[in-house]
Amino acid sequence: MALLEVKDLGVRFTRRDASPVDAVQRVSFTLEKGKTLGIVGESGSGKSQTVMALLGLLPGNGQTSGEALYAGRNLLTLSQRELNQIRGDRIGMVFQDPMTSLNPFLTVERQMTEALQMHRGVSRRDARRQAIEALQRVWIPDAARRIDRYPHEFSGGMRQRVTIATALLTEPEILIADEPTTALDVTVQAQIIELLRELNRDLGTAIILITHDMGVVAGLADDVMVMYAGRTVERASAQALFEHPTHPYTRGLLDALPRLDDDGMHDIDAPLRTIAGNPPAPGEAITGCAFAPRCALARERCHGTRPELEPITGVTDGWRACLRPVAEIEEVVR
Ligand SMILES: Nc1ncnc2c1ncn2[C@@H]1O[C@H](COP(=O)(O)OP(=O)(O)OP(=O)(O)O)[C@@H](O)[C@H]1O
Ligand SMILES: [Mg+2]
Repeated sequence: MALLEVKDLGVRFTRRDASPVDAVQRVSFTLEKGKTLGIVGESGSGKSQTVMALLGLLPGNGQTSGEALYAGRNLLTLSQRELNQIRGDRIGMVFQDPMTSLNPFLTVERQMTEALQMHRGVSRRDARRQAIEALQRVWIPDAARRIDRYPHEFSGGMRQRVTIATALLTEPEILIADEPTTALDVTVQAQIIELLRELNRDLGTAIILITHDMGVVAGLADDVMVMYAGRTVERASAQALFEHPTHPYTRGLLDALPRLDDDGMHDIDAPLRTIAGNPPAPGEAITGCAFAPRCALARERCHGTRPELEPITGVTDGWRACLRPVAEIEEVVR
């Protein structure tokens, strides 16, 4: 069952002395109940603005177009008051830097219990008890005592667990996590990923996970949307996408993943491959495929014709935007 249905989402930023920036264009996806959607792409590809648009949290110069249906309502046309009732209640949020969602001047208890008291009319005492339970669920030791501390008294990894616990207090149907592990070291990253996996499995929380790390997506996502320069270039089930990436950019992202050797260890001698070149600058006029200047498989017409997102033959629910036939892309040795 579709929980959230996004159709032709666009985000345009107006600028005082320059042409507008179309940060997100024609983005469509559905988030099914209890599923995890991974959104990947390089810096500036429009991942964050996509979810900020859904939550009504765009910067003041941003305007949306399209539709985002949630529980029969278009999120893009709701008032801030209506959105306030959904955000932090039915839809939880976790951002890259835990300090953006934690107030340094309030104890963890005060910020955790606020949503419950405000949205659910729960008493302070019950809210405190539920908050302690939520902290225990994300493995905060000694939660009953720690809850009265301030955010700066927690380590970075613990702070992120606090924000996840807070987001989960109201048992949201959807959790939106924008680069939740980027600011954390590798071991803590793995713990947070494991935590998200458990929440998805045990509570059935649907997750939109934004990351530029294909490895993180591989571990969590049911479906993947790959963005490039504000548009979707490929969208498919995680399995189909990892087994048969059909867009040269997706292949580039997968090739950049560290290789595992036969023992399942990272091969430290293997060169880390990256995609040469840079994405177009914000607001830059694009005539052909936005990826063509960096694409090893680009042909002349790729520079002149912008590819539309089209169903991938043979892949259920898979879409790609590329002028080169899938077969020709698969022929190229990886
Ligand atoms: N207020 C703004 N005015 C103009 N352009 C903006 C504004 N906010 C964001 N943008 C532009 O929107 C585009 C998409 O940004 P977005 O934050 O969605 O990227 P991202 O994919 O989340 O990147 P990252 O991985 O770095 O977080 C960028 O080109 C950015 O410059
Ligand atoms: Mg971002």
